[in-house]
Amino acid sequence: MLLFVALLLLVLFMPLVLTHFTGAIWSPTSLRIAKRMLELSGLKPGEKLYDLGSGGGRIAIMSAKLGARAVGVEINPSLHLLAKLAGRGIPNLELRWGNLYKVDLSDADVVAIYLSPSGNRKLIPNLKKTQARCQDRLLPVAPSLSFEEERGADISLRFRC
Ligand SMILES: C[S@@+](CC[C@H](N)C(=O)[O-])C[C@H]1O[C@@H](n2cnc3c(N)ncnc32)[C@H](O)[C@@H]1O
Repeated sequence: MLLFVALLLLVLFMPLVLTHFTGAIWSPTSLRIAKRMLELSGLKPGEKLYDLGSGGGRIAIMSAKLGARAVGVEINPSLHLLAKLAGRGIPNLELRWGNLYKVDLSDADVVAIYLSPSGNRKLIPNLKKTQARCQDRLLPVAPSLSFEEERGADISLRFRC
């Protein structure tokens, strides 16, 4: 029994710890901030949004409900399952269990990002390949890239990669 509980805890919490090294640990964006991020991104119905590291799926789900074609990519299997549950039955929503650094962003209109600074840095080569508008929750993804910057409230910034 003790072994079972230990294994269960390992399965549930190890991915949380590991994602600290892969991009960012889970910290869900509040509904208010998610709404504001999407406003700032200028997301329109029919556009394609990728949420890279989608956690419980909030941004992807909200985008799909706004009529966008939303893709959430999450590496933590527990969070991926939670997102699948939360997003069941919503059209135009694709939730992938996978590594955000391996995603082809060539058809993206908007990329939502909320990662650690080192996670952001690793993403720069992929972002350079896309024309998408990048909506970063926290930090400039790459101050060295040329981009338009718009400040909104004090919660997020909008970038063109
Ligand atoms: C700060 S949370 C943001 C969650 C969500 N985007 C939101 O705003 O509510 C970062 C997420 O990225 C995920 N993550 C970290 N590294 C990843 C990787 N290499 N591939 C996919 N997801 C990753 C984490 O598991 C975590 O859920």
